[in-house]
Amino acid sequence: MLILGIDTSCDDTSLAIIDEKRNIISQVVSSQVEFHKAFGGVVPEIASRKHVELIDPLFEEIIHEAGITPKDLGLISVTNGPGLIGSVLVGLCFAKGLSLALGKPLAGINHVEAHAMSIFLEKELEFPFIALVVSGGHTIILLIEAPCSYRVLGTTRDDAAGEAFDKIAKYLNIGYPGGRIIEEYARKGQKDYIIFPRPMMDNTANYDFSFSGLKTAFITYAKKNEISNANLAHVLASFQEAAIDVLVFKTLAAAKDHSVKRVVVGGGVASNNRLREVFGEKGKNEGIEVLFSSPQFCTDNGAMVASLGYFYFQKGITSPLDVKGYSRMAIR
Ligand code: KG4
Ligand code: ZN
Repeated sequence: MLILGIDTSCDDTSLAIIDEKRNIISQVVSSQVEFHKAFGGVVPEIASRKHVELIDPLFEEIIHEAGITPKDLGLISVTNGPGLIGSVLVGLCFAKGLSLALGKPLAGINHVEAHAMSIFLEKELEFPFIALVVSGGHTIILLIEAPCSYRVLGTTRDDAAGEAFDKIAKYLNIGYPGGRIIEEYARKGQKDYIIFPRPMMDNTANYDFSFSGLKTAFITYAKKNEISNANLAHVLASFQEAAIDVLVFKTLAAAKDHSVKRVVVGGGVASNNRLREVFGEKGKNEGIEVLFSSPQFCTDNGAMVASLGYFYFQKGITSPLDVKGYSRMAIR
């Protein structure tokens, strides 16, 4: 059986075809970064217009690349939230049209859940495990006890971690999206140049995060002190270290407290090499295995949506044709 996965939740138009064993048959991710760069962030109206322009030709492209016809697809899986609603609806309506025209089942998928389960594209994993999804829109810790069975342990109370990276990069005018650019600078910087606060880290009552406070601490520092070419890398390395410390500490605490020996990390920020390094070291000290998807499956992609849709399909769960799109959406 071949499964089509579509994700248009934000600024990437992503489609993939996988088989039942979760092998990638063909995939495409068309980034819109070029169109949003000038604005220092994603402009929702531009994003949805670009999805409208791109989705048809990209679908043709992956069908051609897979050497199949649309009739060969067995399941149409699509992100129906959370995300920019105009963008979500482009993918969702396209998927509904295909499902109706082909007479094939439809699976409406939660984008955050898809990130949390993206590891299955590369590895078979036993349950339970802890998943940290850390992206531009979400920072969430889940206890995953079985396929499609989740408990939310902690979430951000304000900004997502990736959002803090992006907003700081925007403030400094060093480019967009901020995560990868900050990582590049930080590589050459001194991590303890400034000790920024680690918000919520000492709060052992829950596994929640707050990245808005860290962002404000950074901007307050930048207003009071001159940031020049001489110290930019140091200041960014110090910020990155603070963000990473909190992510690693709270996620490993959640694993220990729930006696879970395995953690998976997904979402765009999970491609950060320093995050991978610190997680690896600290996890090892605690006897916890920490797994990361490869970078192509950390950032938004259609394959993770196809894969999760197939998990639901195997449980006999599909979506009706009137399934709605949502900008906010709880994990079920
Ligand atoms: O998962 P994703 O592609 O889209 C969302 O669902 O948000 O994540 C994008 C986010 C952006 O905030 C971007 O700055 C961040 O991931 N990001 C990184 C890195 N690469 C991407 N953050 C830190 N370090 C990176 N190397
Ligand atoms: Zn995402």
